[in-house]
Amino acid sequence: MIQNSDPSTLTATPATDLDEPIPTVGSGKLFNGFFDPGQERNFRKDQLVDGRARRVFDLMGRACEAGVYPFQLPLETRQGPWVRAEGRELLMLSSYDYLGLIGDPRIDEAAIEGIRKYGTGSGGARLLTGTLDLHKQMERDLANFKGTPEVLTFSSGYLANLAVIAGLFSAQDRVVMDSLCHRSVVDACKMAGVQVQRFKHNDMDSLRQEIASGPPANRTLIISDGVFSMDGDICPLADLVQIKKETNTFLMIDDSHAMGVLGKGGHGVDELFGIPTNEIDIWTGSFAKAVPSNGGWVAGSQQLLIFLQHAASPFIFSAALSPSSVAVVREAIRIMSTEPERYARLQENAVFLRGGLQELGYDTGLSETPIIPVNFENEEHCAFAAAMLRGMGVGVTPILFPAVPLGSARLRLCVTAAHTKDDLQFALDAFKKLRD
Ligand SMILES: Cc1ncc(COP(=O)(O)O)c(C=O)c1O
Repeated sequence: MIQNSDPSTLTATPATDLDEPIPTVGSGKLFNGFFDPGQERNFRKDQLVDGRARRVFDLMGRACEAGVYPFQLPLETRQGPWVRAEGRELLMLSSYDYLGLIGDPRIDEAAIEGIRKYGTGSGGARLLTGTLDLHKQMERDLANFKGTPEVLTFSSGYLANLAVIAGLFSAQDRVVMDSLCHRSVVDACKMAGVQVQRFKHNDMDSLRQEIASGPPANRTLIISDGVFSMDGDICPLADLVQIKKETNTFLMIDDSHAMGVLGKGGHGVDELFGIPTNEIDIWTGSFAKAVPSNGGWVAGSQQLLIFLQHAASPFIFSAALSPSSVAVVREAIRIMSTEPERYARLQENAVFLRGGLQELGYDTGLSETPIIPVNFENEEHCAFAAAMLRGMGVGVTPILFPAVPLGSARLRLCVTAAHTKDDLQFALDAFKKLRD
C-alpha cells in the first residue's frame, strides 16, 4: 500500500511522447550494454580509466549479468515508507527520511511559498549576492534549536565538513579521527593537507594513544560522527569531551544522523547524553536526513563562524542554497520543535525492527539507532540478498567495498517514524523468507 503520497504522483504517465521508459536497473540495462558479456576492456596505466577501475568493473559486470545490480533504482514517486519503482510498489527501508517529513503537506507548502516569494535560485554564492534574509532566519532558527551561539549553512553536509576543516586547518595541524568517520571528513582532511591519524572505532584508549604518539602539530582536532552512518552506533560523547579537555585539543562532531533523531527533543547526541552543547567546539550536519531538504550546517562560536564566512571556500565559491530548500529547513525545524512524538515513534520502530531481525538470527552489528545494518561477510551474497528482498517488495541498500572494508558488506536499513508496525512486519516476513 502506498501511503503519504499524492495519488497523482503515482501514475506512471510519461510527461511527453518522447519520454523513453527508464531501463530496468537490476539487469544492468542502465549502462546501455556496457556490461554485456564478451565486451573487451583495457585498463592500461596510461589510460584515463586505469587499473584501479578493474575491480569495480568486474564486480559490476558480474552483478549486471546476474541481474542484481543494486544501485540507482529510479523511484517513480516521492520518497516515503512506500514508493514505486520499476512499476511496482516497494516498502522503502533505506531512506534517511527519519521523521517521515518528505511529503508532509506543510513542508511542500513551505517550499512553494519560498518559490513564490523568492523564486527558484539564489543567484550567487553566500558571501557575494546569494544571501537572502531567509538564509539568515534559517541560521537563527537552527542556532536556537541546536543551542549554539551561531550557525552557518552550506549547499550540502559534505561541503559543510569541507568548509570547516579546510577553512581552519593546514599542514602544521593534525586531525585525529574515528576510523569510521564519514567520507566527507576524510576528503576534507585531504583538501586541507592536514596531518591525519585515525583511532579505532569508539575506542578511547586508542584515541589517547594516537594523541600521545602523533607528529608535532600546532593544533589537534578530534573528529567523530555523533551517529555512525554505516553501523548505526553512537559516539561516547562524554569521554570525547573529557579527553579533549585533558589533552588540550579541540573536538568536532558531525551530527548528521543524530539531529532530529536522538534526545527527547531531537536535538542530537549532546541532548541524549545531557552534555552542554558548548562543550563541543565545532558541530556539523546535513539537511538531507531528518530535515527533508538539502544543505549542510556548521555550528559554533560567533568568532568561528565570522571567520568561516571569509575563509571557507564553499561559502565563497559555491552557490547559496535555493530559497525552497531554505524554506523547507525552517518549516522542518518548526515541526521538529513542536512534535516530539515523532522521535519516540522513530525509536519504537527501530527497537521493533532490530529486535525482529535479531530474533530471525540476523547480525545487526553495533546498531543502537534507526540505522540498522544487516551484516554479510560476502559482498555477492549481500547484493543477491538485496535483489531477493526487492523481488519480495522490500527496498534496501547494500553497502559494499569501498564504502566499507572488504568482508564487512551489509544491507543498511533505516527505519522512519512514518513506518507502521504492519510495514515493519512485512519487512520481517520478507527477511524470514530470505533466511529460509
Ligand atoms: C555522517 C555524514 N556526514 C555528512 C554527510 C554528507 O551530507 P550531505 O548528503 O548533505 O552532503 C553524510 C551523508 O550521508 C553523512 O552520513
